[in-house]
Amino acid sequence: MMQIKSLAEYEETYKFSVEHPEEFWAGIAEKFLWKKKWDKVLSWNFTDPQIKWFEGAKLNITENCLDRHLEKSGDKPAIIWESNDPEKPSVTLTYKILHEQVCRFANVLKKNGVKKGDRICIYMPMVPELAIAVLACARIGAVHSVIFGGFSAKSIADRINDSACKLVITADGSFRGSKQIQLKEVIDDALIGCPTVEKVIVLTHTRTPVSMLKGRDLWFEDEIKLVDTICPAEEMDAEDMLFILYTSGSTGKPKGVVHTVGGYMVYAGYTFANAFNYQPDEVFFCTADIGWITGHSYIVYGPLSQGATTLIFEGIPTYPTPSRLWEVVEKHKVNILYTAPTAIRSLMSFGKEPLEGIDMSSLRVLGSVGEPINEEAWHWFDEEVGHKNCPIVDTWWQTETGGLMISPIAFVTPLKPACATLPLPGIQPLLVDENGKEIEGNGVNGNLCIKFPWPGILRTTYGDHERCKQTYFSTYPNLYFTGDGCMRDEDGYYKITGRVDDVINVSGHRIGTAEVENAINMHAGVVESAVVGYPHEVKGQGIYAFVIYPKLHDEPELTKKDILQTVTRVIGAIAKPDKILFVTGLPKTRSGKIMRRILRKIAEGETTNLGDTSTLLDPGVVEEIIASAQQL
Ligand code: PRX
Repeated sequence: MMQIKSLAEYEETYKFSVEHPEEFWAGIAEKFLWKKKWDKVLSWNFTDPQIKWFEGAKLNITENCLDRHLEKSGDKPAIIWESNDPEKPSVTLTYKILHEQVCRFANVLKKNGVKKGDRICIYMPMVPELAIAVLACARIGAVHSVIFGGFSAKSIADRINDSACKLVITADGSFRGSKQIQLKEVIDDALIGCPTVEKVIVLTHTRTPVSMLKGRDLWFEDEIKLVDTICPAEEMDAEDMLFILYTSGSTGKPKGVVHTVGGYMVYAGYTFANAFNYQPDEVFFCTADIGWITGHSYIVYGPLSQGATTLIFEGIPTYPTPSRLWEVVEKHKVNILYTAPTAIRSLMSFGKEPLEGIDMSSLRVLGSVGEPINEEAWHWFDEEVGHKNCPIVDTWWQTETGGLMISPIAFVTPLKPACATLPLPGIQPLLVDENGKEIEGNGVNGNLCIKFPWPGILRTTYGDHERCKQTYFSTYPNLYFTGDGCMRDEDGYYKITGRVDDVINVSGHRIGTAEVENAINMHAGVVESAVVGYPHEVKGQGIYAFVIYPKLHDEPELTKKDILQTVTRVIGAIAKPDKILFVTGLPKTRSGKIMRRILRKIAEGETTNLGDTSTLLDPGVVEEIIASAQQL
């Protein structure tokens, strides 16, 4: 219905979307279910910033994701769940069953005092109940804040307190490959410092013993038995908040990116239907975790808003064997596989053998997201997985954009290996130089900005609008700044080159260097540290930490492990440095600023040409760091 079928149609649609953006998006929005239509399609400025889409419209996103499919597709699988353990049977929830479960759990939330606008923290394994919890919040207008299962108690507490969450939904534990994470225990530690949380709902999953606090903690299974299966959908304004998702930036603590109901729904649904060319009855498999934006938009909201079948996989691609991901594809006859370069590189390292004898002929479209994909991984994906028959959509986007921005449309856009290609309809990218001057023409490099709003753009950062303005709308006046560098090639195709700020992309996850430094500096004995990214064969980028630790005793390796432990405590295991180098000083300018440019070169092993070092306070420090880095 909303799908673009040919390159000519794309070009025509794109032109129309730029010349008549309001008409274009109103036309797309018409395909969704509204309780009341909008009075105004768009009002905006990028200076405050203030962006409103579909003002005056009323809707509930779960009616679009569930109710409206019941009549025609009630018995169609909405969610297929595949366990971490290949021996465990998979679970299928039809649209009818999912609708009923969501209504039930929405009633559980209501019964426990949750009201429209309340913030709810979700910290769960990749199980159907996670999607149910997310949708149940949306059903009653509560704002969900999903936190990825790899974050520490302190990170969770910071996020819960930042948005004053009233209730937490969690599980006893989660399985990931051969590991178990004691989710409830982490929540218990977090909640020591979270006065706003009144109730905790706990799902039984790993059957690990948990402490249940009287008056606060409730079992998911008990609660769901006590409620009705009918729950009318709360009438929401298009600009009411749908969710908060925390993401790292180049400075300080994570910020809560806010998305609103109407625009996000239209954007996630439209981009899903188009870029992947989803066909009725196909199985869509996105390997991300629902704790990240990719899971929000392309496991839950995008696919379900289009009546698709979405696969939720609890495990990891290489457990119990490196054939696992391919076996899941075969078992569930997956048609569209959307994954990350880091997963592809990791699977590639096992060679072709794990793929042998597995029938993956169901695959029709492949997708990549999260970081620049290298050509080698792209070709391997194309040849070994897609047998040169499946277009690869290399989708560039961000937590803040809500959905895909620059991406091929499968079967429409002529591809180039490892290239995000062209902007989707409605997206107006431009490249600027350091002074904010637009770089025109092709065959150029610059900082990637967007000059016109699209429905999925973030509206604010929770509780701190000024931060939203400073981070995204102040670097270049009247432009949304992405933080990414980008090349526009001779054909006008966009190729993302990576972050230009102090954010490291580790296995497709954004980690702020300042956050890691803060965590390392909390370790007793550490005087100062500086963290940079460096090329890593599987993760894309690894974390390299230069640490000043004057009283090093005779077991430096143990001290390194201690520091890793501190980072795990403060942020979570995902932020652990891959390399730690003890140094006696850091390269600083006379005004005391760390010269990261030099550290980055050293981390990359490129020490012959360090560039301009004339502003260094003490050049001797650099010589010393280079010498010890070579021994690491
Ligand atoms: O640097 C870009 C990179 O991931 C960043 C966004 O990270 P996050 O908000 O966590 O969202 C990840 C999933 C959408 C971007 O600023 N990135 C994402 N997709 C690509 C990419 N870099 C290159 N190519 C991509 N396809």
